[in-house]
Amino acid sequence: MNQIKVCHSNPLKGEASPPPDKSISHRAVIFSSLAEGRSVIENFLAAEDPMRTLEAFRQMGIDIEQSNDGGTVTINGKGLNGLSAPDGAIDCGNSGTTMRMMSGVLSGQPFSSTLTGDRYLLKRPMQRVISPLAKMGAVITSEAGGFPPLHIKGGNLSPVKYNSPVASAQVKSSILLAGLYCNGITTVVEPEKSRDHTERMLRAAGVDINVQGLEVSIKGRAKLNPMDIRVPADFSSAAFFIVAGLIVPGSEVLIKDVGINQTRTGLLDILIMMGASVQLLNQRDISGEPVADILVKHSSLSGIETGGEMLLRAIDEFPILCVAAALAEGTTKITGAQELRVKESDRIAAMASELAKMGVKVEELPDGIIIEGRDNLDAADVSSHGDHRIAMSMIVAGFMAKGETTVDDTDCIDTSFPGFMDMINRLKE
Ligand code: S3P
Repeated sequence: MNQIKVCHSNPLKGEASPPPDKSISHRAVIFSSLAEGRSVIENFLAAEDPMRTLEAFRQMGIDIEQSNDGGTVTINGKGLNGLSAPDGAIDCGNSGTTMRMMSGVLSGQPFSSTLTGDRYLLKRPMQRVISPLAKMGAVITSEAGGFPPLHIKGGNLSPVKYNSPVASAQVKSSILLAGLYCNGITTVVEPEKSRDHTERMLRAAGVDINVQGLEVSIKGRAKLNPMDIRVPADFSSAAFFIVAGLIVPGSEVLIKDVGINQTRTGLLDILIMMGASVQLLNQRDISGEPVADILVKHSSLSGIETGGEMLLRAIDEFPILCVAAALAEGTTKITGAQELRVKESDRIAAMASELAKMGVKVEELPDGIIIEGRDNLDAADVSSHGDHRIAMSMIVAGFMAKGETTVDDTDCIDTSFPGFMDMINRLKE
């Protein structure tokens, strides 16, 4: 278990190129593997989470080549019915996206399979995919309460119209993937719109998909065409540079080639309302996703009340938003975010306890947090709770503390952002 020590930071200056998007990397592997023919994925995120998805398809007989740096992936897809039974349990590691999306794929297969994961993933709720997939005809057994491992007996699915109680792209994608194996139309209705990378990629693969507000329908038994996909930089990884650039006095950072899909960029809207100087430059489209360079300048931030739809579009950015709030003038109240309790860690409890160690007045709410901003933080020994986004957020917080802050248990950063420390340290020179 590594630890990282950080000190008060000089201004951050220059350009950063965050790693490729994690959500899009998972999906690129899944849809290329289910397509008929050769797809090439460029700028794939060869980090632990998407590699779990890639290895799952290798385990089911898909021929996947990867360049030495891991970033170019060539997949010879065998079509929807081209997977063979895996030789053992599929290990999803820490990746909830792998487990939930693969459960949809495996529900459509004529063989039985098991999905398992690390000690954190084994505590994450899977009933949200088990219920709809069971309605479609899959037989899924789990530990009591709907926890992994999942044992899936697939095949013979029927289409459903499913009103999802949670706004979750993993749930939506899992059902749509199972829907590919049904005769007829499968529909998912969400309470709010979650990220839409699956819809975009299915459309690019030639699947008949219809989006009407919060309702997404696909026609099953489609043939997926192979694709050439270039993955943009991950907005959720760029978020650490955005907030670091805003809070460290004298900073000016240009963050390059970042995906700015509306369903992901709630953090920008919230920060701009807090007074942030953020500009989107060079806006363009790459492989069906909007992309820009993001210019950030140090700004005086003010506290804000936020939640609901805006926060859903910033769901993975909650930890780093808490750091921005801790350094804003006045009080920030974030509500409507119960989902944060079942992410890689309980992110509400984790941020409340770790920011309190740095002298911040914090009140934990059942569905959010209240944070009193300060001019600077106290150095402390803090923990990542085994969660990559908590680890990186607390490192950025350490830049604004007097003295040395130690962040414990930082190996988890590799699940989404190998090389994070090198990239952020380069901006200090
Ligand atoms: C993801 C969806 C979100 C997000 C996760 C990645 C995806 O989770 O928090 O990091 O790639 O579909 P939910 O689907 O649970 O909202």
